[in-house]
Amino acid sequence: MSRPNSQMSLPICGPAQKTTTAASRVGSNVEGFRAGEAMHIEAPEILLYHEDCFEGIRTRVEAGSVDVVVTSPPYNIGVAYTAYDDTVPRSRYLKWMREWAGLVRRVLKPDGSLFLNIGCKPSDPWVPFEVAMELRHVLTLQNVIHWIKSIYVENVSYNEQTSLNVGHYKPINSKRFLNDAHEYIFHFTLDGTVELDRLAIGAPYKDDSNVTRWKGAGNGLHCRGNNWFIPYSTIQRRSSDRPHPASFPPELAEMCIKLHGVDRVGLVMDPFVGIGNTAVACARLGVPLIGFEIDEGYLETAKKRLQRRVGRSFAGQGDQAQVVANPGP
Ligand SMILES: C[S@@+](CC[C@H](N)C(=O)[O-])C[C@H]1O[C@@H](n2cnc3c(N)ncnc32)[C@H](O)[C@@H]1O
Repeated sequence: MSRPNSQMSLPICGPAQKTTTAASRVGSNVEGFRAGEAMHIEAPEILLYHEDCFEGIRTRVEAGSVDVVVTSPPYNIGVAYTAYDDTVPRSRYLKWMREWAGLVRRVLKPDGSLFLNIGCKPSDPWVPFEVAMELRHVLTLQNVIHWIKSIYVENVSYNEQTSLNVGHYKPINSKRFLNDAHEYIFHFTLDGTVELDRLAIGAPYKDDSNVTRWKGAGNGLHCRGNNWFIPYSTIQRRSSDRPHPASFPPELAEMCIKLHGVDRVGLVMDPFVGIGNTAVACARLGVPLIGFEIDEGYLETAKKRLQRRVGRSFAGQGDQAQVVANPGP
């Protein structure tokens, strides 16, 4: 039976365990992140566990307690992760996806949102569609968002030809396939009726006259729509600046949480933490997060990035390593 943890205000089940299956994989040399313990950052509370998310969600997260899940699972396209085999048979992968989505369903609040980022490789473009069809058995697909990583736009404005070429993409040397410059963000909810804060990520009207013409346009913003241009930041060295083969920019998670409505977010969850971009978004927005990741190297990177964000090093307190700081705006 789960019981509330008196040390924490997050609706998680039980105290940090001393030993878990995954805990045995945690190296004791990882400062502030020892076997079975959570990495714990306060203000907002950010708990990252070195643990399989199936185990973590089942044992640590109370039913109906999570407002928003922003996550990106492995895509089953042969990415070279260190602790996960991304080449399992498709049927097994889809079954696995449905299973963790079922766990998410259990812990989501009735008006909660799952933002599921998923992409593919040009030679295997069905993955996102197959995943969406599989999750259809568990959740309702409320919105389909396109994450645009790079775009070239030509436009005529006041009789002048203009163009814009923005973002980054990985060029593909192929006569068959286009460079892959987008991924999906599937917005799943329990029943498809969750109200969103569309203007929290709204776009300004191009023409001021529209502000008065359109009902509800009082603050000068309109719904951004479902094409989101979110570029990766420019980096010098992949190995040190973005040491993960399949991460998303923190801005992606930030937009999802804002769209759900920051004011009503008491807890965010990321079952597949990677290097912690959803956690960084939560630190920026000041909302609590619980997350799981099986690779201790990625978690170590997540910890460093959060430390940079909160601007303090870890100070161990009893069993729990903590960073206590105000992450600011
Ligand atoms: C696409 S990546 C997530 C990247 C993350 N969104 C970021 O921006 O850094 C998927 C991650 O899931 C982790 N993973 C795979 N199976 C897992 C499991 N059962 N529980 C927790 N993490 C898992 C992998 O190690 C990998 O880091």
